[in-house]
Amino acid sequence: MNKPSNSELQQRRLAATPRGVGVMCGFYADRADNASLWDVEGREYIDFAAGIAVVNTGHRHPRIVRAVEEQLQRFTHTAYQIVPYESAVVLAERINALAPIEGPAKTAFFTTGAEAVENAIKIARAHTGRPGVIAFGGAFHGRTLMGMALTGKVAPYKLGFGPFPSDVYHVPYPSALQGVSTDDALAAIEALFKSDVDPQRVAAIILEPVQGEGGFNVAPPELMRGLRALCDQHGMLLIADEIQTGFGRTGKVFAMEHFGVKPDLITMAKSLAGGLPLSGVCGRSQVMDAPAPGGLGGTYAANPLAVAAAHAVLDVLAEEKLCERSQRLGALLTQRLEALRERFPVIAEVRGLGSMIAIEFRDPKTGKPDAARLQQVQRKALEEGLLLLSCGMYGNAIRFLYPLTIDDALFAKALDIIERAVQD
Ligand SMILES: Cc1ncc(COP(=O)(O)O)c(C=O)c1O
Repeated sequence: MNKPSNSELQQRRLAATPRGVGVMCGFYADRADNASLWDVEGREYIDFAAGIAVVNTGHRHPRIVRAVEEQLQRFTHTAYQIVPYESAVVLAERINALAPIEGPAKTAFFTTGAEAVENAIKIARAHTGRPGVIAFGGAFHGRTLMGMALTGKVAPYKLGFGPFPSDVYHVPYPSALQGVSTDDALAAIEALFKSDVDPQRVAAIILEPVQGEGGFNVAPPELMRGLRALCDQHGMLLIADEIQTGFGRTGKVFAMEHFGVKPDLITMAKSLAGGLPLSGVCGRSQVMDAPAPGGLGGTYAANPLAVAAAHAVLDVLAEEKLCERSQRLGALLTQRLEALRERFPVIAEVRGLGSMIAIEFRDPKTGKPDAARLQQVQRKALEEGLLLLSCGMYGNAIRFLYPLTIDDALFAKALDIIERAVQD
């Protein structure tokens, strides 16, 4: 049977789906394998988007495919809250053992990242009996109402969608390029306590250890220590949103392992289940048990196929030593990008942690964000078959999100394409 062409599908998409679901590529996926993706016209792309940090273990890893196929033959859905199953209990036990949480931990499963964030806030409020939440400028926490309220970027995520839930406050996230230091960020919280909210009304501070959509800004360790101290001082909870940073992306299973600071709650999703929809909140048992029975859950929460995939993801991460590989590939990429930055001052900064690396483009004369330059580089790379994603408050950074299982030859080929795209 003849497949429809990219242009035919593009026309049909525009007629059939709303523009609010913004779509980056004008070509349509046909199949994918590890770090490669083919469109309906047979063109191959090197996938440095990984479904927005979802397939850290590659497209269709054989272990994950097998685990899902086996589960498919047993049952696909019972609703965990009605008839539970062993695999979800064991997955919670595995995550509790892995997560950097102080003391005994428990995990609840959901479906999407935004849902994990929503539930982390519900749990924090139930535990503290307080309404307030402090989040950061540039943060991305999802597209649901609370997720949007916590998100620190107006366009496009919040445009036209208010009013938002109340009791959400934003402070600046440290960024050398934007002239915000850790002291500035911590002082902004102290200022909030003077001008906007009594700390006794604040349930939690939520942050991404490395901001994702916000531009791969890495939290300085002293910020984490400062936030932990503030939380302890005022009885607030520290929530690490690890939805994009988790499962090997930063060179550790969880990015918080880099900081020597333990959060009270961790949200996770994306690469947890290697392409199947699964999210979770892991936290201190006492905190996790605050909501009454029935207060947490969801029809598809802990979907059996996704849980089977997540077990395989954890096996693959350990057996293929993907955290070490993440560090190694990240170091190789950083080296190449730093060499490019020295030659091309339009690259203002190379930053990141492990394999969560970005470059930011700015006009060397004015220092202003240069999104047009980024788009040129992105277009050039795509012409050569490399799929790159943007990020950042001004859409002027490229984030590199290759599967950690990418083979060395393909990775080297991608680095050459990046170099040529920047040179051009
Ligand atoms: C840090 C972070 N939190 C939350 C979300 C929302 O996850 P989802 O799109 O699965 O709802 C994302 C998605 O990009 C994210 O990167």
